[in-house]
Amino acid sequence: MNISERMLKIEHSPIRKFNKYALEAQERGIRIYRLNIGQPDIATPQCFMDAVKDFDDKVIAYSESGGEAVLQKAISKYFAGYGIDFKPDDIMVTNGGSEALSMIFTSILDPGDNVITAEPYYTNYNTFVTAAGGDIVPVTTRAEEGYKADPSFIEKAINDRTRAIICTNPGNPTGRVLSLEDVKTIAEIAKKYDLWMIADEVYREFVFDGNKVTSFGMLPEFSDRVIIVDSISKRFSACGARVGCIASKNPQIMDNVMKIAQGRLSCPTLDQIGAAALYGIDHSYYDEMKNEYESRRDAVYEELSKIPGIVCKKPGGSFYIMAKLPVDNVEDFLMFLLTEFDDNGETVMFSPAEGFYATPGLGKDEIRIAYVLNSDDMRRGAELIRLGMEKYNARR
Ligand SMILES: Cc1ncc(COP(=O)(O)O)c(C=O)c1O
Repeated sequence: MNISERMLKIEHSPIRKFNKYALEAQERGIRIYRLNIGQPDIATPQCFMDAVKDFDDKVIAYSESGGEAVLQKAISKYFAGYGIDFKPDDIMVTNGGSEALSMIFTSILDPGDNVITAEPYYTNYNTFVTAAGGDIVPVTTRAEEGYKADPSFIEKAINDRTRAIICTNPGNPTGRVLSLEDVKTIAEIAKKYDLWMIADEVYREFVFDGNKVTSFGMLPEFSDRVIIVDSISKRFSACGARVGCIASKNPQIMDNVMKIAQGRLSCPTLDQIGAAALYGIDHSYYDEMKNEYESRRDAVYEELSKIPGIVCKKPGGSFYIMAKLPVDNVEDFLMFLLTEFDDNGETVMFSPAEGFYATPGLGKDEIRIAYVLNSDDMRRGAELIRLGMEKYNARR
């Protein structure tokens, strides 16, 4: 029996191998500050639960393949709040941003085609692009430069098999935020080479330091090639509801992703009802969330900065921060933290960054931290990295 070469090329999540050691540490009674995954601790807004409770149909039927009309309308209205014109028909509801990405890559790639993105990047792009038969072509960015991507490098990376540029804005894992000018420059490159412009904006509102939300949807002159990926997971702390969408004014992409949507029949009906209520939430909620994450970022950044030899620039958005540590191999350091170290019965877990790079050898001394715990816990988590590093280095 055969497993496809495409599947054999895909790696398991790099963090999986550490879960076993984390569980063993917990069994020894050690508390672990889990800064490794993007699962926020914030309560999902009550309106989601209320909308689900108010549902009184006798049958939980399949919903439309493109999504519940009430949700498409709510998303359309939400985008209009940013001056972005997506009609309900320009929106296809998906099982989270993940399914949106998978459908898009499957629709635009043939075997041997490629997609350009700045590395380090959201590691699951590997899974979806490879499963669609394509490859990621990375544009490398560096910790020392705050992971800023030089648009001229994007242009140099394009070849005759390039089909799309994908930008994660605000960024995961980097926290990098693009200005409207950056967005325009990148969209212009996509236009020059006739590429799709995929904009993964699942962290859209998490933009700090008084900066404004930017979106590829704000540039109507590029709307024929822009495909936006959205999700309720992070914005509304509703990761388990599995609702996202594809938004595009290009009828060709919408028509083709619909074929996959029809094949998988529908997204969960009740989760969509709850999601419709979330998209209608007052904008003050976004300010509240933004302020919360901004103070967590400041707390963790301040504490990380105390680590001698660290390279860490303050990121402008999302809820991730990357850092280069003064160790050769952060995986070995993480193993030490989980198996040999504790401070007053506590230790910490982060994501080693190697899996966020396509270029072999990069990221071995870098980590990603998700600031998904409250500010005090974030400070303590960063302090544990510092204390652990002192012991780790002394041991050698
Ligand atoms: C950049 C980015 N895109 C997409 C997703 C997919 O999220 P979901 O499928 O929960 O919407 C995530 C989740 O972490 C992400 O970080």
